[in-house]
Amino acid sequence: MIIQELNLNIRKLLSQNLGLNLREAEIESRFILEHALKVNHHYLIRNSDQLVEANKLKQVMKCVSDRLSHKPLAYIFKEWKFYDMKFYINSNVLIPRQDTELLVDLIIKEYDKQKKIDILDLGTGSGAIGIVLGNKFKNANILLSDISFNAIDIAKKNILRHKLKNISIIQSDWFTNIPKKKFEVIVSNPPYINKSDPHLQNKGLLYEPKDALVSEKEGYADILEIIKLSPRFLKPYGTLYIEHGYNQHEKIHQLFLEHNFIKIEQNEDLNGIIRTTSGKINI
Ligand SMILES: C[S@@+](CC[C@H](N)C(=O)[O-])C[C@H]1O[C@@H](n2cnc3c(N)ncnc32)[C@H](O)[C@@H]1O
Repeated sequence: MIIQELNLNIRKLLSQNLGLNLREAEIESRFILEHALKVNHHYLIRNSDQLVEANKLKQVMKCVSDRLSHKPLAYIFKEWKFYDMKFYINSNVLIPRQDTELLVDLIIKEYDKQKKIDILDLGTGSGAIGIVLGNKFKNANILLSDISFNAIDIAKKNILRHKLKNISIIQSDWFTNIPKKKFEVIVSNPPYINKSDPHLQNKGLLYEPKDALVSEKEGYADILEIIKLSPRFLKPYGTLYIEHGYNQHEKIHQLFLEHNFIKIEQNEDLNGIIRTTSGKINI
């Protein structure tokens, strides 16, 4: 079979079985071909009439069959792109989402990249947020933390992969093991989904670690803990940045106010939905 024909067959399988629209099926098919054939997009276009060898075809079809069982591509490839960097991923960590890049953008916009600042990434998972920040803010000290030892292992691999010397990592249940120092920035994409939210039945989400997604108190327990304790770990005018769910911004704004944050700002994701809240502390 030639590349072009294989590509069309995969698109058809993906759209018929996973309900992807044409554009989504086209992108996923391309990603699968690039990954399994170890080529880039240009190669696929320039060599669309080239025959695919039997052993390569087998690898492509293994990816397709995994995908047809709703396994997310990031777990099939064991790698995913976040911002402008690639990360090792396995099913112990959440797949970094494009929406989360908003947190990184906000911090880049607010802080001078040359400055020596301290940044804490709470609930780091694969390390995506903190590692991208470590790469942008070369003079900053970045501390990553997560409660999950499995996540810590993956994040450590990602720190090594990107050869960043300004990043350290610690296992911690939110602030329990965080050293008694103060940070200019605390950033977190914590679990915030209500356990009764029907979205959790989405077949792709079933592959992701539940502890990374679900939070008690209708999704607010972890966010509340972070908002409550962050002021003790922020320098004066330090900022807490949090990602939250599509329907949580009003309550979270209230929680920031109740815990004496000032200059509270909320920002929209790519779909125009408010998904982040930040605030500064004035003590
Ligand atoms: C939504 S995931 C975010 C992962 C990563 N920061 C990202 O944006 O892709 C939430 C992370 O918080 C971690 N977590 C859950 N409860 C925690 C706790 N009590 N203390 C620290 N981290 C926790 C999970 O292990 C998970 O890695």
